Amino acid sequence: MRLSLLVAAAAMEAGCVVMGHKGRPRPDKDGRYTISAKGIKAQFIPYGATLTNLYVPDKNGKPIDVVLGYDDVDYYPVDPSHPVYNAIPGRYANRIANGEYTIDGVTYYTEKNDGPNTLHSGTNNWSYRFWNVTAHTRDSITFSLLDESESSKGFPGRVESNVTYSVSENRWNIKITARSLDQKTPILLNQHTYFNLDAYRNPETDKIWEHGLYLPYSRRYLAADQGSVPTGDILTAAPGSLNDFASSPDLRLGHARDLPGFEGNCGADGACQGYNHYFLIEDAPRDAVVARLASGFSGVKAELRTDQPGVVLYSCNWSDGTARLKKTQGIRGKHETVTRSSCVAIEAQDWPDGINHPEWNRLDAQIFGPGQLYSWESSWTFGLL
Ligand SMILES: *[C@@H]1O[C@H](CO)[C@@H](O)[C@H](O)[C@H]1NC(C)=O
Ligand SMILES: *[C@@H]1O[C@H](CO)[C@@H](O)[C@H](O)[C@H]1NC(C)=O
Ligand SMILES: *[C@@H]1O[C@H](CO)[C@@H](O)[C@H](O)[C@H]1NC(C)=O
Ligand SMILES: *[C@@H]1O[C@H](CO)[C@@H](O)[C@H](O)[C@H]1NC(C)=O
Repeated sequence: MRLSLLVAAAAMEAGCVVMGHKGRPRPDKDGRYTISAKGIKAQFIPYGATLTNLYVPDKNGKPIDVVLGYDDVDYYPVDPSHPVYNAIPGRYANRIANGEYTIDGVTYYTEKNDGPNTLHSGTNNWSYRFWNVTAHTRDSITFSLLDESESSKGFPGRVESNVTYSVSENRWNIKITARSLDQKTPILLNQHTYFNLDAYRNPETDKIWEHGLYLPYSRRYLAADQGSVPTGDILTAAPGSLNDFASSPDLRLGHARDLPGFEGNCGADGACQGYNHYFLIEDAPRDAVVARLASGFSGVKAELRTDQPGVVLYSCNWSDGTARLKKTQGIRGKHETVTRSSCVAIEAQDWPDGINHPEWNRLDAQIFGPGQLYSWESSWTFGLL
């Protein structure tokens, strides 16, 4: 009797999740699904399996919203710039050189939606889909997707995917699985979150350059051409050079701002300042922190653990000040929009365009036949400096 009462009480506790008819989970009235744990609250929408808000305490103990996004959840699908804000791009994230790749002697032609190359699999990519919410508790939510053959040009076979976001004390956990159902097909996924750990409230600057960034296991990175496509070369960053984030825990994202080459460091014939590069993670002990992003202003640090072999570092060159900040961010009359170089994405993933570089030995990790399971796991742990 007593036990069953306890069980019922526990079920009611967990029942703070809003359930619609037939027991399907429903979002709050603002359209967001919320999960929370001690020191962290995260909100999501089915569109792109997107994280819209992430609240962690700053050095004054006040929760601040440290990721980019929009207040109006209906704006995500119609946003013409579609920055893949905190969504899951797929089925093959990042770029495919010249919009083609070959499996077992058959060449597949993908959509060229980024100059001569394919970005995030082209139109109808996964970050543009309304995913199904297939589970939701107070601290976890799962989004699921069935991707039909050729729903993105040049991607054969059906793929199903589940993304589970959960939170535990001060920590956001992300698990992605995908399975090819009937043909060999490329799969490469990531979680594309953009951070500004000051919530754009630092009156001195809205730029990302004063954030600290340490990638302790990433001395080497992939050389890229002017369109941010890997050339195949693997380079090593000398301490203090443009692409060095490994030599010291005290490096800032903008440590190389005054060095020649910074303005065109991410290509576009000199027009892309900062970073849009893949850094290898090498010789990291299991469960080690492989990236630490931090801000002295808010005092917040974010630590990445991942089972992936590298991260794409992108410092938001494209942002042109047209996207408005959420009401949880910014300073009225001073920082109201997302300006150039005011955020950073650190996307754990496999080697970009690895399907076109057999010499990298990534084919087994990027091409999946019927029944083969793709698996990706990362977490961000938040704390204070
Ligand atoms: C993704 O697909 C949409 C259409 O579904 C398209 O408008 C958009 O350009 C694509 N995004 C990218 C980055 O290719
Ligand atoms: C969501 O589930 C329904 C019913 O199972 C299915 O028809 C639909 O394709 C799913 N949507 C996505 C985006 O996978
Ligand atoms: C996704 O979740 C469904 C329901 O739990 C399960 O049947 C399916 O095997 C999962 N697929 C993958 C790729 O994880
Ligand atoms: C980088 O930003 C500059 C200035 O806003 C813009 O002209 C350029 O096209 C951008 N480059 C890329 C690759 O987004």
